[in-house]
Amino acid sequence: MLFIIIKTIHLFAAFIYGGFLITDNLFLNKMPRTLNEEEHKKARESFMMFVRKVVPPSLIVAVITGLYLISQVFGTIGEDGMSHFQMMLSLKAFLGIWLGIRGFAQVYLKIQPLVFKSHVLPFAFVVTIIFLSQFMHAF
Ligand code: HEM
Repeated sequence: MLFIIIKTIHLFAAFIYGGFLITDNLFLNKMPRTLNEEEHKKARESFMMFVRKVVPPSLIVAVITGLYLISQVFGTIGEDGMSHFQMMLSLKAFLGIWLGIRGFAQVYLKIQPLVFKSHVLPFAFVVTIIFLSQFMHAF
């Protein structure tokens, strides 16, 4: 039961974090097409004010609940190495932890990445994570 509760929390946190990245990369980035620079800056800031309150904590929740989930499902590594499930799950966890560390450093420690232009990289990571989290059960 605890596992299901934590997994549901994990999924919601992933929705909120991934949902923002999808909104940003598919829709918000189109705003400059119809708004001038000043309007775009204002509109984006009014959106980001609330994003900053909700999205970074969701990422942290996703990572912490993810660590619990992996401790429950990873299992032991067999004699002939990791199973496909274990490999895909490890890659998923690596990408998730990477996003968590990067996001935490950026938002809470104010350490900006070397090149910060957009949210395309985290978006690509999240899409990959979603595919891995589904297909890892199929192999
Ligand atoms: C941005 C970070 C993350 C996102 C967006 C994310 C997303 C997801 C999604 C969509 C699922 C599928 C849930 C389902 O099908 O019911 C999932 C499952 C899972 N996640 Fe994450 N995750 C993230 C981080 C992590 C991290 C850091 C770990 C481990 C260290 C992790 C471990 C797991 C495990 C073990 C499952 C599978 C549970 C199971 O089906 O048995 N996740 N995650």
